[in-house]
Order: sequence, then C-alpha cells, then structure tokens
Amino acid sequence: MRAVVLVGGFGTRLRPLTNDRPKQMLPIVGVPMIERVVATLGSHGVTEAVLSLGYRPDAFTDAYPDGICAGVLLHYAVEPDPLDTAGAVRYAALSAGIDDTFIVVNGDVLTDLDVTELWNFHKSHSAEGTIALTPVDEPSHYGVVPIDDDGRVIEFVEKPAPGTAPTNWINAGTYVLEPSVLDRIAADRRVSIERKTFPSMVADESLYALHSDAYWIDAGTPAAYLRAQLDLIDGTRSHEDALRPSDEVDTSAVVENSVLGANVVIGNGAVVRNSVLMDGVTIGPGVRIYDSIIATGARIGPDSQISEVSVVGTGVELPAHSALVGARIPESD
Ligand code: GDD
Ligand code: MG
Repeated sequence: MRAVVLVGGFGTRLRPLTNDRPKQMLPIVGVPMIERVVATLGSHGVTEAVLSLGYRPDAFTDAYPDGICAGVLLHYAVEPDPLDTAGAVRYAALSAGIDDTFIVVNGDVLTDLDVTELWNFHKSHSAEGTIALTPVDEPSHYGVVPIDDDGRVIEFVEKPAPGTAPTNWINAGTYVLEPSVLDRIAADRRVSIERKTFPSMVADESLYALHSDAYWIDAGTPAAYLRAQLDLIDGTRSHEDALRPSDEVDTSAVVENSVLGANVVIGNGAVVRNSVLMDGVTIGPGVRIYDSIIATGARIGPDSQISEVSVVGTGVELPAHSALVGARIPESD
C-alpha cells in the first residue's frame, strides 16, 4: 500500500516555530510530527510513503538519510514551485509511479482514525475517492462535507463563512483515491484538491466519505500544536512520558502537565503549566509559564510571565520581567 503525505506547506500559522523548520519536523512530545503520521500509516499496512515536499525539503532528507521513517520506505517528491494540494498529489504520485489505489494524508493531522476501515469502505462502494470525516465545533476553518445515507458526498465546501456550514462533519485530511483522480488534475500548475478536484468528483457522483469518531487534531496552529502534545500526556489520547531526559529543574519549581525537551533548565520558584519547553530552554527563577510554547534554546529572564498560547521562537532571549499574553516573539511580518 502506498501513501502520499502532503508536507509542503509554509506553516505560516505556526510562525515563528516554522521560521527555521517545516511544521511536520516540529516535535510532538519529542517525536517529529512526520514520524507520528508515517507510523500511523505503517500500522495500517502502508509500506511506502511519498513525501510531497516544497518548503525546506532538506529538513526531511537530512532527518531520514537512509530513506526509512518509522519502518516505512520514503520517496521524496520535491516540487519546483508550490502546486497546492491537488497539484502536489499529482506531482508526487506520478514521480513515485503510483498506478493503483492509494492513500493521501495531510501531514499536519494527528489522528487514530481507522485507515483500514476507510480503505474497505472505499472498495465496497467502488468509489473513485473516499474522504474520512471528523466532527468539529467550528467547521468554518475546514472543508465541510455533507453526505447522503449511502455515504455519497453531496457537496464539498472549503472553509465556508462562519455560520453557513451545512454540517459540522469536516474533511479529516485522509483520502483513499483511485489513480483516475490524477487525470482530473491539470499538470504543472497550482490546483486545490478541496476547491477544484473534489467538487468535480461530487458532480460526477464518484466521491464518498465516512464518518469517524476517532481522535483527530490538525496541529497547524500554536493552540492546536500545544493541545496535540498535552493530549498525549494527560490521557486524552494516551499517557506518554512528558520527556525529561536530562533536565535540571530546581526542586522549588513547579512543573505540571507540560512537555520538556532535553537539557531544559528551570530556576527556583518558577512555575510551568500546560506548556511545551523544547530542547535547551532556560527558564529563569520566578518565571511563570502558562499554556505556552518556548522553542529550542530560548532563554526566559527572571520573573517573566508568559501565558495564553504565547510562542517564543528559537534562540530568543527575553529580558527579566517580560510579560507576554498571547504573543509571538519574534513577530512575523
Ligand atoms: N507539497 C505541498 N504543496 N503541500 C502543501 C501545499 C503545496 O502547495 N499546500 C499545502 N500543503 C500541505 C500542508 O503542509 C499540509 O500538510 C496539507 O497540505 C494541508 O494544508 P494546510 O495548509 O494545513 O490546510 P488546512 O489545514 O487549512 O486545510 C486542509 O486540512 C483540513 C483538515 O486539517 C483542507 O484539506 C481542509 O479541507 C481540511 O478540513
Ligand atoms: Mg492543516
């Protein structure tokens, strides 16, 4: 079984975390996002994953020099220019010689959804394409997908205006596709699978979808990137260790429900709650960090207070008494 994994986006909503790496190379409790995505595919029988790359492809080739990730063989397809989601699928599938039913996943989605069940549903309906659907509270940020009783897609509405979505079941970013879908995608130009290819399949009544209640999160925003990690340590999704391999935490510091990378130093009287501190972060004495992300090597000066999904970028040095509320440092243009 082969899968195309879309990982070529710029990750703009995750800046400044994505200033120095693509979002799928960001750690999710110590393991790069891409590795978790590929491992899930591998557990459903995928033996070869085609990484559809654009932004900073070297980050992936450097991380997996032998072309194996989570036991799955990688094939790299680097776009000369961003081709958008459908253009990227076509380019990657053709470059890997895909000529049979295949899987596509958005590489920023962390989920336990049953790909095998999706595959079997697709086959039993003789569909041209089948989309996994997940329920969300606010569908306007996603592709909204109403279906009929047989699972046929009635309409595919990408990012509808708030309050206008016909259902709260949205495109979960996992598809099973027939190779004929590739013939629907124009060569060498930007084409969106959500805005162009899926609507054309709806018109031909060849697109199906399947509801799933499995764990699902798109980790593409700071709040979701934080949530995806806390869900792994607090029992929402699992009970992984919150990784404190060689950290130096002062005995008077309080660290609760947080993920710590390697070589983290936390000074006396500091409090860290519901937060992610990446490798080599230094937290000064008396600092408060709530619901925030501190990237690799950043140093937070004494008595600072950081809260409400603030993001402090790689190597940033904050002076003493800094106060951040929902801030991004450095700010992007
Ligand atoms: N290779 C390549 N080239 N990859 C791309 C490109 C491109 O030009 N543009 C985006 N991607 C990758 C991103 O890296 C990401 O893994 C995936 O395609 C989806 O792009 P996002 O930018 O994350 O899209 P989204 O989250 O706004 O919406 C998509 O995902 C939702 C579910 O998470 C859509 O598919 C929605 O319909 C869906 O509900
Ligand atoms: Mg996304």
